[in-house]
Amino acid sequence: MIVTLDGPAGAGKSTIARKLADRLGFAFLDTGAMYRAVTLAALRNRGPWDDPDALADLARECRIELDRSHVRLNDEDVSAAIRTNEVNTHIHYLADNPAVRERMVELQRAVAAGQNTVTEGRDQGTIAFPNAECKVFLTASPEERAKRRVLELQSRGEQISVEEVLAQQNDRDHRDSTRAVGRLEPASDAIQVSTDGMSADEVVERLVTIVSEKTKQTNG
Ligand code: C5P
Repeated sequence: MIVTLDGPAGAGKSTIARKLADRLGFAFLDTGAMYRAVTLAALRNRGPWDDPDALADLARECRIELDRSHVRLNDEDVSAAIRTNEVNTHIHYLADNPAVRERMVELQRAVAAGQNTVTEGRDQGTIAFPNAECKVFLTASPEERAKRRVLELQSRGEQISVEEVLAQQNDRDHRDSTRAVGRLEPASDAIQVSTDGMSADEVVERLVTIVSEKTKQTNG
């Protein structure tokens, strides 16, 4: 069974998807980490930012491996290095590139093949796994999302104001929801869940119920 969890940055997807996968005993796939890893590779390569074909070649050459808690880029553990603000502000060069997205979707399908998986991203229910048995679209208000992002960045030692994060977030939301391929939007058969005012555990409980209802429908 594939459970897709899509939604904007800061809706709590990563934490919730990980906990949900643990609860269900499913594999967990953080597709944002894949885009982050190729962005890190591009930063080290100094782009070239104005050459989409070169960026696509770079994405094809990268070896990305993910397990539950680590991301490896060409055998190097980059789990922390992909979470910087520099990666956040350059990721659109890769995420807006259709050839890069094609490569990422190919990898996502290969990783999920043959195993029960909770996969988390922007286009998992629409593009990567259109036939997934259970699709969820998580949302939260922009202010709540920005506050969560500031706390996350602060815990990694980066100082940044809520206003600055909110401005960057609006920019990323706009890019994510208007890109030509793989844009952020709920699949027509996705269940939308707002996480405002809910703890991660409360959201996970709600999702466990949704998954078990879907499982009954699929089996019955
Ligand atoms: O989820 P996370 O914040 O780590 O994702 C980082 C960025 O990667 C997002 O802002 C989005 O631009 C891109 N992304 C994407 N498609 C996905 C996952 C992430 O375009 N499936």
